[in-house]
Amino acid sequence: MALLDLTNVRAGYGTGPDILADVSLEIEEGRTYCIIGPNGAGKSTLLKTISGVIPPREGEIVFDGVSIGALRPDQILSEGVCFVPQDRTLFPEMTVRENLVMGAYLVRDRKLIDERTQFVFDLFPQLAERSSQMAQTMSGGEQQMLAMARALMIKPRLMMIDEPSLGLAPQISDTIFGTIGRLATDLGITVLLIEQNVKKGIEVSDWVFVLDLGSKRFEGPADTILDDPRIRDLYLGKLAGATQKGGEGTE
Ligand SMILES: Nc1ncnc2c1ncn2[C@@H]1O[C@H](COP(=O)(O)OP(=O)(O)OP(=O)(O)O)[C@@H](O)[C@H]1O
Ligand SMILES: [Mg+2]
Repeated sequence: MALLDLTNVRAGYGTGPDILADVSLEIEEGRTYCIIGPNGAGKSTLLKTISGVIPPREGEIVFDGVSIGALRPDQILSEGVCFVPQDRTLFPEMTVRENLVMGAYLVRDRKLIDERTQFVFDLFPQLAERSSQMAQTMSGGEQQMLAMARALMIKPRLMMIDEPSLGLAPQISDTIFGTIGRLATDLGITVLLIEQNVKKGIEVSDWVFVLDLGSKRFEGPADTILDDPRIRDLYLGKLAGATQKGGEGTE
């Protein structure tokens, strides 16, 4: 059985048009998945729908055998599904440690919170050095690490991360991708990632979904997807052009 199973999901904002037309996909436990697709394809909307930020208008979302489509975001979080959004949304005037404790608000046990804090500090040593620093004074890369660390405080089974390398220098992106690569292999956490830096995103993933105009257009194994001329011509050229214009490059 798949860990996460979406069947014919349709979703949109308020009374507006459908953004996700009819999305079906399956995610197996312990693997890393990357969603690619042009700007406005509905990639972030898909993760917002799975995490309960917007409710699906139609279709089924099943996580580990539990139908989560009608649940609230906090209920979905307590099922073990966490979401690190594109804008990272930290508590700016709280310290690194306080942000982590907030991330563990579902965990009541003080000792467990201390254990988890130590665990994420081991994973992100740079955060340990800055445990008393206010979040808003940290660099973009450190803020991305903190956003991921805070999500890890609930010990998620599925971690969804929206564009972790956005606006970051290549070296710090590499550190972030290094950690993302270890989530599944070392910690057994299933990862669903959105990444504009297609090459990097694919490198750390096992499987790739291509989304366009609110529908899944294609999917396949990460190690061969770039050999497919349809992906190359239709999406990769377009994406590479878009990212280069944004100044981030594709390397
Ligand atoms: N809060 C919102 N209210 C109304 N429409 C929205 C909202 N957020 C996104 N949209 C619309 O949904 C569509 C898909 O947006 P989405 O953010 O999911 O795309 P994306 O694939 O993540 O793009 P990008 O690569 O630019 O992040 C867009 O047309 C966008 O204008
Ligand atoms: Mg997006």
